[in-house]
Amino acid sequence: MKRMLTGLQPTGVITLGNYIGAIKQMVKYQDEYESFLFVADLHAITVPKEGLNLKKNTKDLIALYLACGIDPKKNTIFVQSQNEYHTNLSWVLECNTYFGELSRMHQFKEKSKGKENFTAGLFTYPVLMASDIIIYDADYVPVGVDQKQHVEIARDVAQRFNNKYGDTFVVPEPVISTTGTKIMDLLDPTKKMSKSSENQNGVIRLLDEPEVIRKKIMRATTDSEMEVRYDEENKPGISNLINIYASLTGKEIKEIEEEFAGSNYGTFKKAVADVVVSEIEKIQERYNKYLNGNEIDEILRNGANKTRLYAKAKYEAVKNKIGFYN
Ligand code: TRP
Repeated sequence: MKRMLTGLQPTGVITLGNYIGAIKQMVKYQDEYESFLFVADLHAITVPKEGLNLKKNTKDLIALYLACGIDPKKNTIFVQSQNEYHTNLSWVLECNTYFGELSRMHQFKEKSKGKENFTAGLFTYPVLMASDIIIYDADYVPVGVDQKQHVEIARDVAQRFNNKYGDTFVVPEPVISTTGTKIMDLLDPTKKMSKSSENQNGVIRLLDEPEVIRKKIMRATTDSEMEVRYDEENKPGISNLINIYASLTGKEIKEIEEEFAGSNYGTFKKAVADVVVSEIEKIQERYNKYLNGNEIDEILRNGANKTRLYAKAKYEAVKNKIGFYN
């Protein structure tokens, strides 16, 4: 079975867009791949953030993923900082990565732009990420398009190391989701639903109160027609609501158009709100159960024990190849 691995930063809110566009895909992948999922808390400190409560955010994030259907029996779930081999290997990889390569990373350029004080960690971030991936011989790495360049540098570094020291690492491939539906902002349906959007009324968060979700959907931007018809270009608002409805009910777009033929937008929006609220209520219920129980501690302990063994073996192999004394 091919191995798939991805990391999640414990910084933000999770939106309905993340759920439909990425998390639901991962829930599907867990049956097709040997899956590794970790909280990238070491990456979270590359940019200073005030009031960042890492411990709480880490637990919340895991609880939410589990609540969304990530099965701890099918996934190896762990926290990056609990596994020191990632950083050990990262140093070795840094010595096989060029300053020029890292200077060309879009994310680095964007996050350091106009700033005088950014950290060295922000600069070497992609190398730690390469280490996260290749220390487990991951074949596939599902990431958002903004992280694709980082997986590419992981490929380059793995290949370079293999050429220099002999076959050591699997060269990973990025998996950029094209099947997951892209969910748009409810108020500005021409842009992606994003947790950092200025007007949060366009953004549904998985932990929003059901009544708030309902209001946001009822106020979503539509158009001046009265027809529930899929047309991304001319009817982006309605098309977005159709996509949301389709993803959560499993219905085809055509079926939905037929179902709401002759209905007004209010009726359609209410139906969309009903399915979204019902799905999110189930997620929230499970989320609270996980947060209040101690299952997560056990899952993370097992994940740390298992991945430390894997990672240690790989790191020892690397040390031998380089010729470190041991
Ligand atoms: N940099 C990724 C992000 O911000 C998180 C991440 C860290 C990651 N290490 C990784 C993703 C390894 C995939 C594989 O989204």
